[in-house]
This record gives sequence, structure tokens and C-alpha cells, in this order.
Amino acid sequence: MTELSDTTPFENAGAETHPKLLRVLGGEVVNPPPIWLMRQAGRHLPEYRALRAKTANFLEFCYTPDIAIEASLQPVRRYGLDAAIMFSDILVVPDALGRKVSFEVGEGPKLDPLRPGDVLPVFEEDTFHAKLNQVYSTVIGLRAALPPEVALIGFAGAPWTVATYMVEGGGSRDFQKIRRWAYTDLGGFARLMDLLVEATASYLCRQISAGVQTVQIFDTWAGVLPPDQFRRWVIEPTAEIVRRVREAHPEVPIIGFPRGAGNNYIAYAFETGIDAMSIDATVSTSWAARAIPERCVLQGNLDNLALLAGGAALERGVRDILTHLGSRPFVFNLGHGILPDTPPEHVERLIELVRGQVSTPRA
Ligand code: CP3
Repeated sequence: MTELSDTTPFENAGAETHPKLLRVLGGEVVNPPPIWLMRQAGRHLPEYRALRAKTANFLEFCYTPDIAIEASLQPVRRYGLDAAIMFSDILVVPDALGRKVSFEVGEGPKLDPLRPGDVLPVFEEDTFHAKLNQVYSTVIGLRAALPPEVALIGFAGAPWTVATYMVEGGGSRDFQKIRRWAYTDLGGFARLMDLLVEATASYLCRQISAGVQTVQIFDTWAGVLPPDQFRRWVIEPTAEIVRRVREAHPEVPIIGFPRGAGNNYIAYAFETGIDAMSIDATVSTSWAARAIPERCVLQGNLDNLALLAGGAALERGVRDILTHLGSRPFVFNLGHGILPDTPPEHVERLIELVRGQVSTPRA
């Protein structure tokens, strides 16, 4: 296990030990709001790039607890963020289901594409969790290493988004293969989605048993679907995962992130049963404040390019978000993951702005 020395500076260490993030997810207004950033661990940090250079294979990097723990701790140590997210990837689920997954440098993920009519993978609980056991070890090690006031977040990809990678064989521009499958072989596609619901719910429950305090469901490609398909392949599978995780762990808040959902964010907030919803940067903060009831905690939604650019764009973005969302239960985050070219000084400035500014609307 990675040992943190006693002198490791966790800048937000303080008397209050119940994580701010969990207070907000429980419905409290906390001012200034807690902040963490999607993809906070990763290539924008020189210390991550140095760690990563030692392991050629990205999945092996994810499956080595000492390394994954260190990658998760790096941004928390550097910035004093309010939460750590366990270091892994959404594509460990297809990997654990026996699909071939690899990450080519500069090209993103590659998978053996699954086609209509192919024999579907089976969810065999013991084999699946044996493959993911190292992820659970990462969680145990992380919880032991983190100060109590820093929340530990677990995650999984939503079935729709994970299925896009499994069916398209990697990233995609138009999602033609998966969308066509969903229209032309409803029964077969529904069976694939049911399998992913089962595997994902089970995976999240194990993360919780190992020590994560909240989980986020990343539905990165939710935004490509028209409303009826959105309901069938984003809302319904997510609602079923929420039902299963909540049945086993009623105390653990669940954050959903249906990126790019537009108007569908409203249905998602009402119908999935999630406790909190992360919104992307295309959503107007004043619209979100009006359209989404306060019992659904909001998280977001700074444009990751405003963070990369810094300066006035960053200051304006932060001010707008805090003005419209700062007086309700709210978690500061980006609208999508931090980009590799983002200067760490801009992240420092962002945190200063969020923590230093009065976040109630001015009279
Ligand atoms: O701090 C964190 O959030 C780190 C943990 C994390 C990673 N991936 C590490 C990673 C998380 C939460 C993810 C989620 C993820 N992975 C998503 C959903 C969130 C999103 O950003 O939309 C998706 C769609 C993936 C799939 C994936 N993984 C892609 C498309 C790629 C290649 C593109 C890219 O960003 O590099 C990855 C690789 C990946 N996952 C890296 C990291 C740090 C880069 C790999 C490297 O270091 O070479």
C-alpha cells in the first residue's frame, strides 16, 4: 500500500470531519460548496504522467492498487479538493465480462466489437468480481489513506455509455452501429442492456462495501438519443441500477451524469431516483435552477475550456454558477472531465475563486 507520510499536506484538513460533499448530497446547503473535478486524476498533472510512464498497459495501471491509490491521491494532495475519486476506468466492466479491451496511446480505447446475433457475455458473479478485486483493494487502501473530511467517490459507466464502446468497438462519431441495433433487434439489445444493469449494480455495491461513500454513474453519451430512446436506454437502466444499489445500501447517495441530455435532464432527475445530478456546460445555470427541484442536488457545470483558458473566462464562469446555484444544495464541478492541457495553476485559481467568493445572489 502507498504510505502517506505524516507531513503530507492535505490542505483542507480541519476540525469538521463529516465530508462536506456528503452533507450536500444529504440536502444541506454548504457555503462555499464542496468542489471536486471529473477526471481530476490524470494527464493534466505532471506527477500523474510520471507515474503513468512506468506502466505501458493502462488497464494494468488501473488494476495495480498501489499505483491507482497514488493516482487518486495526487490531485487531492496538490489542490486540497473535497473528494477523491477512485482511479479506474468505466471500461473495466466489459473487461471483467470477458470482452477484449485495450488502450492505444493517442487513440483511446479499442474493444472487440459486439454485433447483433453474437453470443452475449454472461454475468458470472464470482468471476466478474475476482477480476475487479484489485479495484476493491484500491478503495480499501484509499479510504485508509484519506483524511476523514475528504469523501471517497466510486463510479461506473452507465449501461448505455458502456454499451456504445462495446458495440462500436471504441469511441464513435455517430453511434450508428449501436443505434441501429437498438432499433432493429430490440430483444437482443435489451438483453445486452439487462446484463450491463446487473453487472453495474453489483459492481457499485462492491465498491460501497469496500468503502466508497457515494457513487457517480457516468452516462457520457446520453445526449445522442431522442426522447423515447433516452427514456428506454438511459432512464430505465439507470433507475434499475439505483433501485438495486439503494436496496442494498440505502444510506449511500447516487449521482447521475447524463451528459448532453438537454431537456431530458428534467425527466432524468424525476424518474431515475438519483440523489444528485451532474449537468454539463451547455445547460444554462438559471434554467437548471428553475427546472430542477431542490430535492435533486445539482453538480457542475463549469466549461472545461474556461478552466483550460483561465483568466476572465474562468472568473466569469465561476461567478455565473455560484450566483444561480450557490444558494441550493450544490457541488462545484466541471461540465465534463478536465482536459489534459489544463494548467494546474488554473485549477488552483478555480478553487480559490470557489472558496473565496460569497455564493449567494447579490441583491
Ligand atoms: O479522476 C478521474 O476521474 C480518474 C478516473 C477516471 C478515468 N476514466 C481515468 C482515465 C474516470 C472517472 C474515467 C471515466 C471514463 N472513462 C469515462 C466517463 C467520463 C468521461 O470523461 O466522459 C469514459 C467515457 C471513459 C473511457 C475512456 N477512458 C476513454 C474514452 C479514454 C481515452 C481518452 C482519454 O481521455 O484518454 C480513457 C482513458 C483514461 N481513463 C485515461 C484516464 C486518466 C487516460 C489514459 C492514460 O493515462 O493514458
